[in-house]
Amino acid sequence: MDEQRSDSGEGERAHRPEGGSRALGADVAHAARAIRYGGLVLMPTETVYGLAADAGNALAVAAVYEAKGRPSFNPLIAHVADVAMARRIARFDDRAEALARAFWPGPLTLVLPVADEQAVCDLARAGLDTVAVRAPGHPLAQALIEAVGGPVVAPSANRSGRPSPTTYADAVEETGSATAAALDGGACRIGLESTVVALLDQPRLLRPGAVTRAQIEAVIGTLAEAEADAKRSPGRLTRHYAPNAPVRLDASEPADGEAWLSFGPSGTGPFNLSPRGDLAEAAANLFAYLRAADRTAPSGIAIAPIPDEGLGEAINDRLKRAAGFVG
Ligand code: TXA
Ligand code: MG
Repeated sequence: MDEQRSDSGEGERAHRPEGGSRALGADVAHAARAIRYGGLVLMPTETVYGLAADAGNALAVAAVYEAKGRPSFNPLIAHVADVAMARRIARFDDRAEALARAFWPGPLTLVLPVADEQAVCDLARAGLDTVAVRAPGHPLAQALIEAVGGPVVAPSANRSGRPSPTTYADAVEETGSATAAALDGGACRIGLESTVVALLDQPRLLRPGAVTRAQIEAVIGTLAEAEADAKRSPGRLTRHYAPNAPVRLDASEPADGEAWLSFGPSGTGPFNLSPRGDLAEAAANLFAYLRAADRTAPSGIAIAPIPDEGLGEAINDRLKRAAGFVG
């Protein structure tokens, strides 16, 4: 966390707000370097501005959630340069191939089974075994992702609860202070988020967006509605990761047979979310450790108290869902 933060002095210079509406090749190279080193970048796309980070770097992804304020670990879209890069991280079936051929690069996001769990880390996928992928149509986004050489996650660059920024100035105002670099792509051509379609069982429309339902149905046939997962997330568009074992929160120690997720300098066992008590590190480890603890087939998973401040609020929200306290 502190490593990311310490970049911000250099970052201010890189914003170049006086540089007009077109970023230069040198800006793209600088931004790509920032991402490879774990920093955040304002990335223009044809839909809205995104807050971009290396999809495989869990600490960088934690910083993205933190920068949005009142953070929540919703799964993020992995932005790719082309279909070939997408096929490395997600399993494509015929329908996915057909939709990518019809609408990429462009404002369509496909939710598919994940193929590479390292390239898009657990935290970016919110612990799910699916991944959302999109090849953006904006030339600066394409140039940035190509220069990074791998997938870049980018939620809309607004702070939580605010509208997605569609101009460079708005994006800088929302989350620019958290970034190491920012690319000025002018105003976004579409100004509305991408359409999200899940291709897991039957094709489902998870988020209406710039590509219309009719356009998608013309390629792959009828779309089902988003199915609210009644048990865990009624009214929500995505499921939440939940371990098989029952979860016990605010535990002071594990009972016999329980796996133990500890936190902080006094924490014990193999699953200490952050021995130095750092919430960004705990966020980065959260889903991977829940999975690893669950794989030991325990009678339950006991979890130490996590401070309810900053990223801790999002961690506790996810833990409450994992424990079944939030319907
Ligand atoms: O136009 C866009 O899509 C913009 C630009 C920056 O690309 N990005 C964007 O990201 O809107 P965000 O994080 O604000 O929205 C991502 C959407 C959310 O509705 C999220 O729930 C859904 O994609 N999503 C991501 N991964 C998912 C998954 N594995 N399963 C279901 N839904 C997923
Ligand atoms: Mg958003």
